Amino acid sequence: MTSTLPAGYRLEPLDESRRRDILDLDTWAFPASDSIDDLAAAPSPLPWGRTFGVVAPRDRPGALAAMYTSYPFAHFPVPGAELAAGGLSWVGVHPQHRRRGILTAMIDDHLTRCASGGEAVSALFAAEHAIYGRFGYGRAADDLRLEIPRSAALRDVPGAERHTVRIEHASREAHGALVAQVHREAGRAPTGVAGLNRPGWVTRETDALDAAFWDDSAVQRRGRESARIVVVELDGEPRGYARLRRTLDWEIAGPRGRVGTGEVVALDAAAARALWDVLLDLDLTSVVAPFMLPVDDVVTHLLVDRRAAVPRLMDNLWVRLVDVRAALAGRRYMADVDVVIGVRDARLPANTGAWHLRGSAFEPAVCERSDTEPDLDLDVRELGAAYLGGTSLAALAAAGLVTERTPGALARTAAAFTWPVAPGASWVF
Ligand SMILES: CC(C)(COP(=O)(O)OP(=O)(O)OC[C@H]1O[C@@H](n2cnc3c(N)ncnc32)[C@H](O)[C@@H]1OP(=O)(O)O)[C@@H](O)C(=O)NCCC(=O)NCCS
Repeated sequence: MTSTLPAGYRLEPLDESRRRDILDLDTWAFPASDSIDDLAAAPSPLPWGRTFGVVAPRDRPGALAAMYTSYPFAHFPVPGAELAAGGLSWVGVHPQHRRRGILTAMIDDHLTRCASGGEAVSALFAAEHAIYGRFGYGRAADDLRLEIPRSAALRDVPGAERHTVRIEHASREAHGALVAQVHREAGRAPTGVAGLNRPGWVTRETDALDAAFWDDSAVQRRGRESARIVVVELDGEPRGYARLRRTLDWEIAGPRGRVGTGEVVALDAAAARALWDVLLDLDLTSVVAPFMLPVDDVVTHLLVDRRAAVPRLMDNLWVRLVDVRAALAGRRYMADVDVVIGVRDARLPANTGAWHLRGSAFEPAVCERSDTEPDLDLDVRELGAAYLGGTSLAALAAAGLVTERTPGALARTAAAFTWPVAPGASWVF
C-alpha cells in the first residue's frame, strides 16, 4: 500500500536556498512567535539531500505545502549493537493542505528511501501520540519527567566527593568535545557492563545536528537565561555533565527559582551523585526539572523519596522496522531464541510473512524467511514497539496485539526481546 501525493502536488528536494520557505512552512505547522529572521539566524540541523518539500498546485512561487527531513544515523543503538537508521523529523503540513494524504505520501517516500539506503529502521519523536501508529511505528521507549524539590535527599555513593565541579557558560567551543565523548560513552555502557548499551541513545552524528544542539540564540532562550553547564571531573577527566537554564520568580515569600535541565549524563554512579548534588543545591531555586531522563536513570534509584519528585512518563522514541529481516538480525537477544514470527505489514509488503529468528546475547542473530507456520503473529507496529527491548511482547499480547500460536513461544520470545537497560534518546530530533 504505497500512496502518492494528491493530484497536482509534487515532491521536490530542498536545499539551503529554500531556508526561509522551510521556516515559513514550519511556523505554519508549529505555531511560533519568532520572526523568520530570528529563526534563520540560528544554525540549521537539516541534512540537505535528505530534506524534501511538497509544492501545491497554483501556490505562490517558493511556498511549501509540506516538508520532511530524515537524519542519517549510521550508528543507531539497538540492543547490544548499532545499525543504520533514518531519523524522521521536521514533518509539517500547512493547515491549508492537511488531511488530504500528504503526510501519508511523505512517509511512503521516506520509507522507500530508507529501504534503498540500507536503513533497516526509521525512528522519530511524535508531536502527537495518535499520528504514527497507522504507519507502522510503535512506541518503543518512554522517558521520565521529574520535578525534584531542592535539597531532595539522595542515597550515598562512595567516591562522589572526589569529583571536582565546573559551572560555566555552555558553549560548543569549550564543551562540545567533552559532551560528545561523555554522551557516547554513557550510551555504550550505562551500567559499566560491556555489551549492555542503551538502545535508542542516538548521538548527534552530523556536524549540523551538533551545532544546532549548542545553539543559544534568542529562539532557544525564550526569555530565559543563557545556557549553563555543570561538568564533573575526576583527576582532570570529565565524568558527567548537565546543561541547564535557571528561571527566577520572586514571590511574596521570597525567591522560587526553577532549574530546567537538558541532558544530565554521567559515566558512573559516583559522578551522577556529584552532578545531582550541584543541581539540587543552586541558590534561589526550589525545584529541578530535568526535561527527559531514561526511565531507569540512576537518579531514580538514588532519590530517597522518588514520589516527591512527581514522576511522569512520556513517549520518547517511536520505531518502525523498514527491513524486518535486517532489523531482527541486527540486534542481540537477552535469552536464546528460536522462533518463527508472523509479521503483517500493510505499507511495506516485503516485510509481511513468516520470519525464522535465531539469536542469543553473545552471537549475531540470524533471521530468514520461513515457510512454516508462525509461533507468534503480530503487526509490524508491535514489532517496532518491542524492538528496543523496552516494551514487553507479553504485555502487547495481554493487550490483544500479539497472538501466540505455539504454547510457550510467547514467554520465550518476550524474554529474549527484553533488554536490561531501558531504551531512550536524551535529546529530541
Ligand atoms: C500531523 C500532520 C503532519 C498530518 O498531515 P496530513 O497531511 O494532514 O496527514 P494525512 O492527510 O496524510 O493523514 C493520514 C491519516 O492520519 C490521520 N492523522 C493525521 N494527523 C493526525 C493527528 N494529529 N492525530 C490523529 N490522526 C491524524 C488522518 O486523519 C488520516 O487518517 P485517515 O487515513 O483515517 O483519514 C499535519 O496535520 C501537521 O503538520 N500537523 C502539525 C505539525 C505536526 O504535528 N507535525 C508532526 C510532527 S512529528
